[in-house]
Amino acid sequence: MPFPIQAFLIALLFSSIASAAIVEHVFNVEDVVVKPLCQEQMIPSVNRSLPGPTINVREGDTLVVHVINNSTYNITIHWHGVFQRNSPWMDGANMITQCPIQPGYNFTYRFDITGQEGTLLWHAHVVNLRATLHGAIIIRPRSGRPYPFPKPYKEVPIIFAQWWNVDLAVLQLRPAPIADAFLINGLAGDTYSCSKNRMHNLKVVQGKTYLLRIINAALNTHLFFKIANHNVTVVAIDAAYTTPYVSDVMILTPGQTVDALLTADQPIGLYYMTISAYISAHPIVPVPTDRTINGLIVYEGAALNTSPAKTTMPEGMNQISTAHRFSSNITSLVGGPHWTPVPRHVDEKMFITMGLGLDPCPLGTKCIGPLGQRYAGSLNNRTFAIPQTLSLQEAYFHNISGIYTDDFPNQPPLKFDYTNFEVRGDNEYKMLFPERKTSVKKLKFNSTVELIVQNTGIITSESHPMHLHGFNFYVLGYGFGNYDPINDARKLNLVNPQMRNTVGVPPGGWVVLRFIANNPGAWMFHCHMDAHLPYGIIMAFIVQNGPTPETSLQPPPSNLPQCSRDPKIYESPTTNVDLSY
Ligand code: C2O
Repeated sequence: MPFPIQAFLIALLFSSIASAAIVEHVFNVEDVVVKPLCQEQMIPSVNRSLPGPTINVREGDTLVVHVINNSTYNITIHWHGVFQRNSPWMDGANMITQCPIQPGYNFTYRFDITGQEGTLLWHAHVVNLRATLHGAIIIRPRSGRPYPFPKPYKEVPIIFAQWWNVDLAVLQLRPAPIADAFLINGLAGDTYSCSKNRMHNLKVVQGKTYLLRIINAALNTHLFFKIANHNVTVVAIDAAYTTPYVSDVMILTPGQTVDALLTADQPIGLYYMTISAYISAHPIVPVPTDRTINGLIVYEGAALNTSPAKTTMPEGMNQISTAHRFSSNITSLVGGPHWTPVPRHVDEKMFITMGLGLDPCPLGTKCIGPLGQRYAGSLNNRTFAIPQTLSLQEAYFHNISGIYTDDFPNQPPLKFDYTNFEVRGDNEYKMLFPERKTSVKKLKFNSTVELIVQNTGIITSESHPMHLHGFNFYVLGYGFGNYDPINDARKLNLVNPQMRNTVGVPPGGWVVLRFIANNPGAWMFHCHMDAHLPYGIIMAFIVQNGPTPETSLQPPPSNLPQCSRDPKIYESPTTNVDLSY
């Protein structure tokens, strides 16, 4: 009976056409005056708003964003967590996939969003500019497909940011100093005298369930988030569904997102929602700000003159255990939309030491870091130097030499007691002063890569949020101390590990990640604390071409921004960085 089958096929074709839309935005990057605390300040913004505009798409849609740079800065916009399948030129990684959009120029990003649902973020990918150039990307299921959880009554983006009373953009090459506040959806709330009446308010109806789409867009700080007297149920992280996980507290590293259901199941009243900094190490720079920042849950019918119920935030040693419990207990939703099983066979196994280090103080400069030197950071004892004249991906595509080398090592040059680092001789001294180099790791198309990321105790140990562009990885395990390839390997979760794009590597600990290199192009793997970009806690993978044109890196779009002749205007890592705080 050919007719019904044809009709079915036509219907299928029609429905798939009907369900994929083109979503178009104009991002006008321009300076705007805002006043979250006591003083007015000019910041770069997208469309004059802080946070910037929310992008709403359905899985399968094509997103088109025209970025018009009317600011005075070089910018790129990165679509953090978007897979960019077959669109590696659209990743927006400054000097990795493109040269920046210079003032007065524009560029149109165009890519499909497929194979992921939940919450992500977009942000400028130039040091410090992310502080004010960021916003939410909300990916809902294709039309007619349900969420794998009860439909919420309403959905609410909740975006955390970090705020400075200084013009951060002018600091471009330097890590930002101590922050003055955190913001929830652009508002500092009632713990600051000048913003007492400007607090994020979420109005709820008793008995209803809300989907909170939480994004940590803070530049440098992991944040705890808690709602007084309420539990939440986590249903997705980094736009990958999870087994529902009930918790009273959440931790988000910079760049992470959490989708959580909140049911207004408490007596009618006012309840604080609070964020506070997670300090995972003895700080080598002063704490960002020890103030907690509040937003408010307002039940319909509540008396507004009562004082809100308060939260107690994790403190001291409790912070590490709370963060570890929340991060390591979440599992992926086996069999849920876009879930895929962990590949059992590993083609490329890398052991990567990660952490801080030192960079020799330039002659004639005074550096106040340990031993009179400046701070640096490294992966396998390499400090990544960001290319300055041509993007890595263009250099790779056009076969231009002198921009990078492909000798990023599969292990550190020295085996040592990683988490209890001590300089005992020349070898350790070498580990203290990493080599500065633009080195990448080449990967065969479709290979399965395992990364064991080992945090070190060089200088100090702290949690670093490692973010991979272009892929989600499975987090097979989190642990403390030195990774034990026999006993720890035995305990890895190969059944339902979380899938995400950013992972907090525990202070003095490790994570084991796995991903499939199925997307040709140049992809960064870096610490998502912006302060650590100039330190060079970065490396890049180049995924080589597959067998067909569809699995090969295509030529760059003809209007890809050109690099200026003057390399000075691009961010340069570590060189010229005065790390005096
Ligand atoms: Cu959200 Cu390379 O960054």
